[in-house]
Amino acid sequence: MKIAVFASGNGSNFQAMIDAMENGALSVEIGLLVCDKPGAMAIERAKAHSIPTFVFAAKSYASKEAFETDILEQLRAHQIEWIFLAGYMRLIGTVLLEAYKGRIVNIHPSLLPAFPGKDAVGQALEAGVKETGVTIHFVDEGMDTGPVIAQAPVPIEPSDTHKSLHQKIQALEHTLYIQTIQTLVTGVKLS
Ligand code: GRF
Repeated sequence: MKIAVFASGNGSNFQAMIDAMENGALSVEIGLLVCDKPGAMAIERAKAHSIPTFVFAAKSYASKEAFETDILEQLRAHQIEWIFLAGYMRLIGTVLLEAYKGRIVNIHPSLLPAFPGKDAVGQALEAGVKETGVTIHFVDEGMDTGPVIAQAPVPIEPSDTHKSLHQKIQALEHTLYIQTIQTLVTGVKLS
C-alpha cells in the first residue's frame, strides 16, 4: 500500500510515520511527500529517508486546479492510494477530492468541531476550556469539517502554556495518527 503525505512545515507527524514505517509498526510505503513550502523541514526529513518529493510554489500557478493537476500527475506516477495531510496549510480542492474520494485524511489539534482552522491550541487556551485533543478526519471541501475517524482528549492544566500544551497534543498525534493510518489501510487495529 503506497501513501502520500502532504506537509507545509516541520513534519513531526511525517517523521513519526517514517519511523513507524521503518520499525514495522506501519505496513505502508510512503511513496511521496507533497510540500508547498520550498524551505520546509519536512523536505529534509524526506530526503534523509530517500522518500520522493514533489515541492511546488502555489504562486507560480494560475489556480488551485492547476497545481492540483500537477500533484495528481505525481500521485498517479507514484501509484499512491491514500493521502494523509500532516500540517498541510491549504484546503484541498475538487481535482484531488474527486480523484481520491474518501481516501484523503487530515489530523487537527483539537476536538473538532471545536476550534477549527489556524492555531487550534491558542484558540483552546483563549477559550479557557479544561480539555482539548486531537481529531483525525476524512477531508471534504470545508476547513476541518469532514467525518471524524478518531478523536482523543488532552486535559488542559492551569499551568499549561501554548508550548507545553502543543507538546502534549503533538505526542498524542504521533501515536494516534500511526494507529489510525494502520487501521484505515489494512483494516487491522493495533493494540
Ligand atoms: C499538527 O499539529 C497537525 O495537527 C496540524 O498541523 C500540525 C503539523 O505539525 N494539522 P507537524 O508539521 O507534523 O509537526
